Amino acid sequence: MKKTTIIAGVAVVAATVAAALLWENGDTSSDNVASTDVLTSQPPSASDGGSVARGHYVAVAGDCIACHTAPESKQPFSGGYSISTPFGGIYASNITPDAETGIGKWTERDFYRAVRHGKGKEGENLYPAMPYNAYVKISDKDMHDLWMYMRSVKPVNYKVPETNLSFPYNIRLAMMGWNLLFFKNQGFQIDTAKSQIWNRGAYLVEGLEHCAACHTAKNIIGGDTSDYLQGSNLAEWHAPDITPNTYTGIGRWSQDQIIDYLKLGSNHVAVASGPMAEAVTNSTQHLTDEDLRAIAVYLKAVPASKNKAPAAISISNAQMKMGENVYSANCTACHNSDGKGIPNLAASLAGNSGLMAEDASSIITTILQGGRGAVTVGNPTSGAMPAFDWKLSDEQVAAVATYLRNSWGNAATAVPVEDVTESRKLLKLKPQMAAH
Ligand code: HEC
Ligand code: HEC
Ligand code: HEC
Repeated sequence: MKKTTIIAGVAVVAATVAAALLWENGDTSSDNVASTDVLTSQPPSASDGGSVARGHYVAVAGDCIACHTAPESKQPFSGGYSISTPFGGIYASNITPDAETGIGKWTERDFYRAVRHGKGKEGENLYPAMPYNAYVKISDKDMHDLWMYMRSVKPVNYKVPETNLSFPYNIRLAMMGWNLLFFKNQGFQIDTAKSQIWNRGAYLVEGLEHCAACHTAKNIIGGDTSDYLQGSNLAEWHAPDITPNTYTGIGRWSQDQIIDYLKLGSNHVAVASGPMAEAVTNSTQHLTDEDLRAIAVYLKAVPASKNKAPAAISISNAQMKMGENVYSANCTACHNSDGKGIPNLAASLAGNSGLMAEDASSIITTILQGGRGAVTVGNPTSGAMPAFDWKLSDEQVAAVATYLRNSWGNAATAVPVEDVTESRKLLKLKPQMAAH
């Protein structure tokens, strides 16, 4: 880890020098393509016709509140939430119109440059933890509405703590190198060969909704790899493959089942938890049915990942046997012996593609700390799962995870015990109890 960090650092510094030579003028503002319907986000009821109401819908679709509000704070957009990266925590800014600590003195142009091009008020580079590489696709119309809405929120006087990353990431100028390598300064391009609904879906997924920020794997310095939407590790969680692959992706889901998941937080098999529960609760459940349909159409059409199912591990395997015992003693009450769970409440473990990724982080995290499904208008109760960290050893957690990944028609790699030990550390849980 140390070594790769240093190499990454050198790469950033080298790229910075190149960037400084090439990129004299930091002003990257550009006009996006001509507005059409695809590029205007209408709220469910635009009856007041106001920019502010439309801008609210844009802010919800962009999920600005998720990062710009600290979990313990009751003040929307006042910042202070720390986004962890391998190089340290990055604090999201106060973006309320407070003149002293927020963006009250900003012009509309300053705001555009920050959101779409990752530049602070003084032209300094923002860290890409702010997903400007996706927001660069937001249309001028949506930007204007968003600006009108952000001007209308309550100003909060709150000074966000200073972000202090380790060298060389503490040098904001180094981000110029990052931008040169990974930032594509191009607005959303309408693909005239595709349908209107596909274009709307692309606009939302690639831009405002920044789905790739979580679902596309990153290289060692945090740039997107070319494995678009094929799944990515988020420390405690794994954001699964959401391409139409029928093994690990959403290939077996109908458009309606995708819509259910994004609107209710659950569908016939899966329940959204962790970071996806937040994305559903704050953002996707509030999208119009047309916009959800557009997302489903688009997801069904992205190139599928190449993941292929291995042969399932045999039940005669020792880890599988241990897993079966743990499962029947602790899990059947909610997930049933056939693994099918309780629809829209306790996730089905059978035929649940998200559970078959190589990376089992979400499964381990859920077993260790329990969880709660997304709370939505359509499914206000949601289900809860108890924690098992106090009850099961690392070996038992690995065994039951391996078992559920290889039963009822599922097939996936075995989960190593070390991965559970690592997750316990990451989740700051007590080490396993002595075997008994
Ligand atoms: C995934 C997390 C995340 C999301 C979502 C997000 N931001 Fe940010 N934003 C950040 C972080 C982190 C920073 C601070 C970056 C830095 O310090 O370099 C930031 C900085 C900013 C800034 C610059 C503020 C300043 O004082 O320099 C503005 C403006 C901003 N965000 C607006 C928005 C808007 C509007 C949205 C929704 C469309 C949004 N952000 C969504 C994480 C996020
Ligand atoms: C903040 C990170 C984050 C963002 C942003 C995000 N996701 Fe997710 N997503 C996740 C995680 C983590 C999971 C796994 C949840 C679980 O295990 O319950 C997930 C699960 C899913 C699933 C279920 C897949 C399965 O097989 O169970 C779908 C579908 C999905 N996301 C679609 C989207 C779409 C579409 C967007 C953009 C509108 C999006 N996500 C944005 C993190 C994110
Ligand atoms: C009291 C009911 C209950 C019990 C007992 C229970 N679960 Fe769950 N489980 C749930 C609910 C509800 C969810 C959906 C919410 C969530 O993902 O946190 C869930 C989700 C899961 C998921 C995540 C599925 C996904 O799509 O991300 C896994 C894996 C899981 N359970 C495994 C287990 C295992 C293994 C056991 C036994 C050691 C167990 N559960 C016991 C209720 C339960």
